[in-house]
Amino acid sequence: QTVVTKRNEKKKKKTPYVPESDNDDNNSNDNKSEDEVLLIELNTDWQKKYFGKSKCALFPRTSEEVSEILRYCHENHIAVCPQGGNTGLVGGAVPVFDEVILSLKRMNSVLSIDDITGVCVCEAGVVLEELDDALMRRGMCVPLDLGAKGKCQIGGNVSTNAGGLRLVKYGSLRGTVLGLEVVLADGTVLSSLLRENRKDNTGYDLKQLFIGAEGTLGIVTKVAILASRAPEARIVTIFACDTFRKVVHLMVEVKKRLAENLSAVEFFDHESLKLTVDTLPGAKDPFPYADDLKTNIQFYVAVETTVNEKAMESRLRANVLNFARSVCVLAEDGRKSRGKFVSILQKKFRGDEAERNKPNLAQRFVISENEKHANELWNLRERISVALKYAGAVYKYDVSLPTIKMYELVERMRERFAERRMDDKVKVLGYGHLGDGNLHLNISRKEGPCKDTLAMIEPFVYEYVTEHKGSVSAEHGLGAMKVQELWRGKDAEEVRLMQRVKNMFDPRGILNPHKMIPSSSPPLPSK
Ligand code: FAD
Ligand code: MLT
Ligand code: ZN
Repeated sequence: QTVVTKRNEKKKKKTPYVPESDNDDNNSNDNKSEDEVLLIELNTDWQKKYFGKSKCALFPRTSEEVSEILRYCHENHIAVCPQGGNTGLVGGAVPVFDEVILSLKRMNSVLSIDDITGVCVCEAGVVLEELDDALMRRGMCVPLDLGAKGKCQIGGNVSTNAGGLRLVKYGSLRGTVLGLEVVLADGTVLSSLLRENRKDNTGYDLKQLFIGAEGTLGIVTKVAILASRAPEARIVTIFACDTFRKVVHLMVEVKKRLAENLSAVEFFDHESLKLTVDTLPGAKDPFPYADDLKTNIQFYVAVETTVNEKAMESRLRANVLNFARSVCVLAEDGRKSRGKFVSILQKKFRGDEAERNKPNLAQRFVISENEKHANELWNLRERISVALKYAGAVYKYDVSLPTIKMYELVERMRERFAERRMDDKVKVLGYGHLGDGNLHLNISRKEGPCKDTLAMIEPFVYEYVTEHKGSVSAEHGLGAMKVQELWRGKDAEEVRLMQRVKNMFDPRGILNPHKMIPSSSPPLPSK
């Protein structure tokens, strides 16, 4: 197989989606050795919420080295914490105690790209954005996109079964990952799972067990993934809506009428936009029109559409504009050449029948004029989590709920804080993957974490989600944060079966202990 990228090849510098000033406590590291500083970094998660105490981090370069490490750890009952880009949001990639950190960052080669089948084989430590760049050079792209792309690794994505912003278009990694190489707890290298066939109905699909296993069943060392054709043009539209019901109906219309060009349909509320604009330099309100024109805008729907051929861009633009005008009360916001957003058309109803009968699902919309503008608009959604990180302590919940009722959880949460007169201390934000029924509920507290705030949120959120037949983790996984919630989210029999699977693959419990799979029995119901 051809090695497409060489290890240690000098990489071009990317615009950091995850700011590089992340290490904001560098000053306190002044008197520490380089190794000590590195260990602190590896023991600390992206949110700086979870801290391990490991004194040992290993950086294997090959599957054989991973195998040797695991064989040794297995024989000596030493616990191991696999780590990819360490962008996980549930404390899964840092040790709970002093587990050996096994970082995949040096296994970062793209091994082959098949122009005929579109199958790409790479090592697990390739950074998602770098994998995408390698594919882009061949007119293809990774069928996954998320805000952490500049840092997360494909092995970490597979191990969390990351969803991201384009699941609406590409589906889940469970469909696009065709094969894996995995090193088991005792050091066995399972290379036979690294298949490249699109179709294979021979026996159990064992690779699926490792997708979303959060490093508890084996170390993913290689990935075969089905790439997609890279789009040549992209248009981002943001709609402003006054009720969540309209948001949902707008999403249904978007899916129906922009179907073949649709690559993402996301939403965020006004609280999310405000926090992002107030926190991140360069983030601008897309609807900064004069107050007298302001309608009661509470929500924003971000729609990304693409075409495979540049020549089709103008037709796509016409379709999107036509659609947007047919569902909006007011015509679009444009912007002047100086880069300032202004309302260019303020006409309300033309008075014709089509206008009178249109559903008015949105108040306004803004459509991207070029790629730079598309990025600016898209960042308003994609970078909310980055804004939250810099706005204070954040309590993060990532849930699946019936789409139409999804936002009620945000409202209930606000009411709870208001009832206890705690609402001036917190901001409750709702955003997420609208097209997938995935809500991100975030509670931001500028003054830092506090027990009373947490007590207002948990277990209420988990109970609410279970009662509404949702999922307590739609895409981020369980990690250390929600390990006990598996009992709530699943039937006890199902959890016990998972415990047996874990025991079969890792009888000594060395792989990522205290994460994902609870070791004890279900908690007794509270009285
Ligand atoms: P890590 O954080 O290093 O690890 C995650 C888990 O996988 C851990 O349990 C770790 O032990 C295990 N693991 C890592 N590599 C391996 C391996 N090779 N073999 C076995 N186990 C391994 N997530 C989403 O689903 N959707 C989003 O839209 C999204 N957006 C994000 C935006 C931002 C700004 C940030 C910071 C995070 C976001 N995330 C999102 C969460 C996170 O980026 C994903 O979970 C991502 O897939 C983690 O990849 P990673 O390489 O950083 O893994
Ligand atoms: C997102 O969709 O932005 C990510 O999952 C991160 C987050 O939940 O904040
Ligand atoms: Zn998400």
